Amino acid sequence: MTTSDTQRQVEETLTDEVLASFDGTENPRLKEIMRSLTTHLHEFVREVRLTEEEWSYGIDFLTKVGHITDENRQEFVLLSDTLGVSMQTIAVNNEAYEDATEATVFGPFFVEDAPKIENGGDMAFGAKGQPAWIEGTVTDAEGNPVPNARIEVWECDEDGLYDVQYDDGRRASRAHLFSDGNGNYSFWGLTPVPYPIPDDGPVGQMLNAVGRSPLRAAHLHFMVSAENLRTLVTHIFVQGDPQIEKGDSVFGVKESLIKEFEQQAPGTPTPNGREIDGSWAKCRFDIVLAPETA
Ligand code: BEZ
Ligand code: FE
Repeated sequence: MTTSDTQRQVEETLTDEVLASFDGTENPRLKEIMRSLTTHLHEFVREVRLTEEEWSYGIDFLTKVGHITDENRQEFVLLSDTLGVSMQTIAVNNEAYEDATEATVFGPFFVEDAPKIENGGDMAFGAKGQPAWIEGTVTDAEGNPVPNARIEVWECDEDGLYDVQYDDGRRASRAHLFSDGNGNYSFWGLTPVPYPIPDDGPVGQMLNAVGRSPLRAAHLHFMVSAENLRTLVTHIFVQGDPQIEKGDSVFGVKESLIKEFEQQAPGTPTPNGREIDGSWAKCRFDIVLAPETA
């Protein structure tokens, strides 16, 4: 559709009028954000020549996103995740620093009071799945070991569900531990499997309408914090997981975070003498933390 000069002027005048309405905003950052948001929203409406019916549909969609959101279900964050806005915000705020480990999306399944385990302990707490021995070091960007870093880990079980998605109050497949005096850490977790993000709401309908899968590439979540270093929120992904190629529904995969989960045949002795009936896997993940100020 072409727009006449007169029509273009009507549209531009409106945008200018709205932008000017923020002239009196005292907080300069708020002013910058409101002006930019207005500019982009107006450009979007004008670029796609949004119909009134489409505007109503959009409002209705956002209303549904609001209605399904409560203290346990955050559909707005899910919308941000599936549109890549969460990962873009992470990219903007976690600029690459030397060899520091890359960050990725936080997700909705972190729980504050996960149990403490010792190095070599089992964070599965009975959750179903193939046992996986995870070990590595925590260092700063100069390669110095970081002792006593707090390492939070969480993941879904073999059925693709986090403990908080069951209604029996279980706590499993999550824990926190601390790196030892040499910056080493190790624990038993589960070999991650792909699972769908919650897709029974408006975000799921959106994914379906555009022919996208709700599946996330298999991953294990980490949040690592230590004094004077930038807190790292990340995952490790499983090398060879076909979902990495097919696409992660929240765009969280980064090449540097794909790790080998080396398969061990049944009967292979484990690193800390744990007896395991079937097969197990072994994975190394060395964590490098950027300075807090980087
Ligand atoms: C997750 O990995 O736990 C997750 C991340 C984004 C949206 C939904 C789930
Ligand atoms: Fe997850």
